[in-house]
Amino acid sequence: MSVPLFDTRTPIAPLRGAIDAALADVIDGSRFILGPEVAAFESEFASYLGVGQAIGVANGTDAITLALRAMGVGPGDEVVVPSFTFYASAEAIPLTGARPVFCDVDPATFCVTPETVKAALTPRTRAVIVVHLFGNVAPVAEIEALGVPVLEDAAQAVGSRSAAGMAGSLGTVATFSFFPSKNLGAFGDGGAVVTSDDALAERVRMLRFHGSRDKQTFELIGHNSRLDEMQAAILRVQLPHLDGWADGRRAAAAHYGAAGLGELVDLPRALGEPAWHLYVVRHREADALAAALERAGIGHKIYYRVPTHAQPAMREYPPAVELPGTDEAARTHIAIPMSPVLDADQAAEVVAAVRDAGLDRPH
Ligand SMILES: Cc1ncc(COP(=O)(O)O)c(C=O)c1O
Repeated sequence: MSVPLFDTRTPIAPLRGAIDAALADVIDGSRFILGPEVAAFESEFASYLGVGQAIGVANGTDAITLALRAMGVGPGDEVVVPSFTFYASAEAIPLTGARPVFCDVDPATFCVTPETVKAALTPRTRAVIVVHLFGNVAPVAEIEALGVPVLEDAAQAVGSRSAAGMAGSLGTVATFSFFPSKNLGAFGDGGAVVTSDDALAERVRMLRFHGSRDKQTFELIGHNSRLDEMQAAILRVQLPHLDGWADGRRAAAAHYGAAGLGELVDLPRALGEPAWHLYVVRHREADALAAALERAGIGHKIYYRVPTHAQPAMREYPPAVELPGTDEAARTHIAIPMSPVLDADQAAEVVAAVRDAGLDRPH
């Protein structure tokens, strides 16, 4: 039995009729940009997260750039960001004119810690981007206690929660991506900025719309970055199912544990209650494991083998601190199948394939 890396089709199959009807309503209403669907999604998404406002934007990368600009980040500023993340977390920073300053992660959680952030702070630090990587909920309050505002990059953590609240409700501002493979996925690109700071929300609303409130007066050099009505309609149908899907993802992680995966590889250490966008384990022979999974028909992917600070476009921003956790995570991580519908039999199949790889014990 082969097991895919993700399964985006099965969970949304029962919603097909509702999605078709929602799209037909948009077409019949002939409102395609910033109409009732986006407004309703923004209000439903904000209440789901327990934040004051959500602003739909074109994608998760723009969401970060717009949020940083709305925070006042610009030329001469530094923004601390982990190197072990998807490239876009850092790419959004130079687009504001500011400089990315790379910090390390704890390879056991793949997230930044108050210590790794502290090591990268300077008098020019204007904000910290805390990435809730793979769905883990990084310690936002402890980082904000260092005295810098936190932007949560929650692109991979919609549906994750912690004792302090939902991922995306914990910092000054948070950003989401609705890229189709995300836990809450559009049928195209989409993103959101969320915040309980009304003034900041107002600036993001203007920035997504050419720096204007009314398309008559243009107060800022802005962007054209909007979530569209079709995508908002699709997201509205899915949002009520998100918590159930997150439970399915947590159940899948539990199936892996019950099938003995922890004896064969290092499991990710959970922070809060992750909605596991990706289930990423570690082994010093990650490439050999990838080859064995390939032979067995098991989906797998090494996502960030070359961490962001080592990417050619980031040449101008060499890290000022050592990044041993990043190097370790980059060398050893490998994502294995995860979805809301991954059952105990599939988990057992994956674990059997890992066992058959015959690698050394991880610890
Ligand atoms: C951690 C992280 N940040 C930012 C992004 C950017 O989102 P988008 O692809 O919607 O621009 C992604 C995903 O693609 C991501 O995984």
